[in-house]
Parts: sequence; structure tokens; C-alpha cells
Amino acid sequence: MQVASEDRLKIEVCFDPADQAGTMADEVRRGLTATQKWLPCKYFYDETGSALFEQITELPEYYLTRTELAILQNIATPLALAHPFEEVVEIGAGSAKKTTTLLDALAAAGSLRRYLPIDVDGTMVLSCGQAMLARYPQLEVSGLVADFQKHLSRVAPARGRRLVIFLGSTFGNLNEEERQRFLAEVRPLLGPTDRFLMGIDLVKDVATLEAAYDDAAGVTAAFNRNILTVLNSALKADFDPAAYRHRAFFNRALDRIEMHLAPATAQHVVLQALDLAITVQANETIFTEISCKYTRATLEHLLAETDFSLTEWHTDPEGKFAVLLAGPR
Ligand code: SAH
Ligand code: TRP
Repeated sequence: MQVASEDRLKIEVCFDPADQAGTMADEVRRGLTATQKWLPCKYFYDETGSALFEQITELPEYYLTRTELAILQNIATPLALAHPFEEVVEIGAGSAKKTTTLLDALAAAGSLRRYLPIDVDGTMVLSCGQAMLARYPQLEVSGLVADFQKHLSRVAPARGRRLVIFLGSTFGNLNEEERQRFLAEVRPLLGPTDRFLMGIDLVKDVATLEAAYDDAAGVTAAFNRNILTVLNSALKADFDPAAYRHRAFFNRALDRIEMHLAPATAQHVVLQALDLAITVQANETIFTEISCKYTRATLEHLLAETDFSLTEWHTDPEGKFAVLLAGPR
């Protein structure tokens, strides 16, 4: 379904609203009836969730966004001069604030023609698309409101050299099975001279990692609890979000931050749309998100398995975060 079409802006929605409600119902039922209760993390991002995420990116403890931005500022011009990319496909674009660093360099080099943002949150696709149109008078924007785990084959065919980007360490939110499948689905988006650029958070000391996901102001806690508010409205549920504590800790064996919601007292919850009633015991957890931390070696290996080769690896001076460039092998 195409929802917006002006000369320079097209937005296509890959979800069929009827399917979407069914998918959400199935996924949530599966998650909340499992022994370890869990919820799919894409449901964090309604309008409130996206706004809270924007606040997370500005927190003093959340070093990821500003570190990634600094790396992008260093590499954007050399990258644009070495590769005259005509289009940028952005997976999980969100507000795309850091993206202008890359697009500015490509516009200055004279190659940029088209920007293709993809996000589950349609309001973000529209607002970032409009912001890009205003910033680059010649640019065409072709947005997709889509699930990047399902709909990457719907990305429009390339019209020229293409850069596919995946920022914010969102790759870290995929589990072992999902990340393999994801890379395999990104790979066909690239022609021989195209590149894939990804921002990745690196393994580091536990205190720094845990603070980034459990900030003093409680914004990450509010973001985590918002998933329950999303279920309340989408599935006619009666979670009391305030009853759940945010828990975030680094699992060293798996090199990942885990985020959970745990009530202090037992909670009886009815999800009317699912015709389901559940009990969350005191201190039982609902597992809501992982954020995997990588090393260069593990990533190089993952990329090679899916027919990519790592061509560039850039980090900040302290080695907190990496921006990598990969091409077809
Ligand atoms: N790229 C931005 C935003 C990162 S937050 C940055 O670096 O700051 C992750 C973004 O991915 C959110 O905008 C969220 O709506 C989107 N997202 C999460 N899961 C998704 C999925 N399965 N399909 C499409 N978009 C998804
Ligand atoms: N990709 C981001 C990350 O892993 C997403 C994120 C940041 C996040 N803070 C969060 C997800 C808190 C859930 C809860 O850092």
C-alpha cells in the first residue's frame, strides 16, 4: 500500500493491518506462555517508545550514539570520495539524525540521488523522510514502513551505486539465529561495488555497559516499561507498568546486555484480545531485549559466513564502538 506520493517522496507500507494484529497476537501469546516469558522488542517502538529512545540517545551514560556519530564524522568525507554512492538504504532509520553526516558528504561529493529509510514506526519514516527532503533539494526519498526481519526483499531495485546502512548497534538486538538470517537478507541488496555500513557496540567493562542500559534518570526503565503500555492498548491488556522493575545486566557468557521487567509482587494480567490470562510471579521476569556486544573477530567471522567481506573497521580512540564497512566477497 502506498500512503504518500509526491514528486520526491514515496512511502510504502509493507504491513497489512489485519495481518499485523494477528502476528502481534501470535507472537505475544507465544512469548507470555513460555517458561521464560519474553516479548518481541520491535513492540517498544510506538510513538512514545520512539520518543523515549531519542531521549536515551542523549543520556550521559549512553555513550553509543555520540561515539558512533564521532566515528561517522571522521569517515564520511573519505568514504564519499572513495565511493560515489548514489543511494543510501537505511535499515531501522529512526530519526536518522546521524545519517545526515553521511548524506552531507555524499551530497557534497555530488553523487547522492536517493534515500530509502526503513522502519517499523511509520511516523518516523515520514518525519525523517520530510526532514531529508528539506535538507537536500535534489533528493528523492523512498521510504518503507516495514519489518526489517521480514520485508527486505521489498526494497526498491538499485538505480546506481548503493550504500546500505544499519546504525545504532541495532544489529546487537538480534539473536544468533536472527542475525544470520538478517545478514543473508541484506546481502542481495548489494551489487558488486555496493557497500554495507554497520555501527556495532564492542565488548568492554561491565560497569560502563550496565550504566548505559540502566541510567540514573530512569529513561531506559520507562522505555522498557512502555512495551507493556503498547500491549495494553493493542491487545486490550491490563498490565500495571508501574508494578514492574527494570532490570538490565551484562551476561558475560553470551557477551550481551539482557533487559527484563520484574514485578515486586505477583501480577495477574488479562489480555482480552488474546483471550488469555497470565500470572507473573513476584520477581519472575519478562525478558524484553538483548543487546549483544561484539569484537572484530566475531563480526568478521559472521560476515564471512554470509558472503560478505570486511573492508574497513573504524573505532573511537578508546575502542568503545565500531563502524564497519563490508562488501560482497
Ligand atoms: N538508527 C537510529 C535508531 C536506532 S533504534 C539510531 O541509530 O539512533 C532502532 C530503530 O529500529 C527504531 O527506530 C525502531 O523503530 C526500528 N526497528 C526495531 N525493530 C525493527 C524491525 N523489526 N523492523 C524495522 N524497524 C525496526
Ligand atoms: N540498539 C540499541 C542498543 O542496543 C537499542 C537500545 C538502547 C535499547 N537502549 C535500549 C533497547 C534499552 C531496549 C532497551 O543499545
